[in-house]
Amino acid sequence: MQLSNKIIVLGVTGSISAYKAVDVASQLTQLGAEVNVIMTASATKFISPLSFSTVTKKPVTIDILAQDNQLFIPHITLAQTADVITIAPATANTIAKLATGICDNILTCTVLATKAPVAIAPAMNVNMYENSITQNNLAKLQERGFVIIGPALGKLASGKRGLGRLSPSQDILGITCQLLGKQGDLANRHITITAGGTREPIDPVRLITNRASGKMGYALAEAARDRGANVTLISTATYLNQPAGINIIEVETAQEMYHATQKLADQTEVLIMAAAVADYRPTSVSADKIKKSHNTLTLELEHTQDILSNIESRCIKVGFAAESSNVIENARQKLQEKHLALIVANDITAKDSGFGIDYNRVAIIDGEGKVEKLPLLTKKEVADKILNKVAALITTRKPK
Ligand SMILES: Cc1cc2nc3c(=O)[nH]c(=O)nc-3n(C[C@H](O)[C@H](O)[C@H](O)COP(=O)(O)O)c2cc1C
Repeated sequence: MQLSNKIIVLGVTGSISAYKAVDVASQLTQLGAEVNVIMTASATKFISPLSFSTVTKKPVTIDILAQDNQLFIPHITLAQTADVITIAPATANTIAKLATGICDNILTCTVLATKAPVAIAPAMNVNMYENSITQNNLAKLQERGFVIIGPALGKLASGKRGLGRLSPSQDILGITCQLLGKQGDLANRHITITAGGTREPIDPVRLITNRASGKMGYALAEAARDRGANVTLISTATYLNQPAGINIIEVETAQEMYHATQKLADQTEVLIMAAAVADYRPTSVSADKIKKSHNTLTLELEHTQDILSNIESRCIKVGFAAESSNVIENARQKLQEKHLALIVANDITAKDSGFGIDYNRVAIIDGEGKVEKLPLLTKKEVADKILNKVAALITTRKPK
């Protein structure tokens, strides 16, 4: 499992959104992590420790001076064993204490005593959040290397709308996983990934697109992030949850995707083209909506610019080949024509994998034409298999 052997301290403080931390604790546990929950005394008024101890299967630590603490000097043990500390939700009060080094409870003591990375997800009323005291405290923490998650904009407990909602669980999880993977095999590598099907306009309302959902590209982006890479995702798939900790550039057309990719060409070390880029686009785009006044309508199409063939970069290039026949042969040909380091081939006629679903069955072909056929896997698992090969290519690559 993704987080097996990882130990996470999840700090929960006295916010109305404390109940949402149960979901975070549960998901981290399901990913295989050992989750040690620390609650402030205020947090226990909002949600019972029993909820956390049940989902994590671990005791919750609350009182630093309790006689029955199961850990030896609990704050030191928790601080030293943690791979990461995530505080979600983090109250204005706890943020202020952390910024000034006050340690009057087990959570603040643990944070002060740790060398592990710390992420905090503030949640509070908008005026409390925007107050310059809170802003200064957050800036101070950020300066010291704390990662701040959110907060999100939306309806608050007071009935007001504004910044101050606890960030969604997936963002808290995403940043926690990113911090855990900071020293991974792709640490500090710049990786650009494209995702989704491009959209070529016909007129102001209609367009030509394809069935790509973007899920494979997003799985690759998250997996690369969780192995330490600095990831830029060039995406048309704005309807998917936008993963935290990833630089996302939104595009629509093949031309926009080409320009966005070329702009990053000098700094990127790896380009993974998981997007399904249109091969053709309308020769001209009608400024007005085309009327249905004729029985037939002929659209003239022209070639789009092939991104992998035209990109000017010395980066490692990985392509995808979605094929309906002669899958391996067609993919091999594409690999050679476009001078790719790897190509990932999938058979789009298979019912249990491919477009729009969470599974994929692919074959990875390397620069020498060697084929590795993989069984049906989740897209996340496929992403890690591809990245294993990318990581190996990076280490064996001759310096420029
Ligand atoms: C109903 C209610 C909701 C609260 N929600 C928040 C909140 O979302 N964020 C916050 O910073 N403080 C909130 N507070 C205030 C904190 O609970 C209070 O500052 C407390 O001392 C925080 O303690 P802790 O940081 O040790 O958990 C709330 C208080 C009440 C009564």
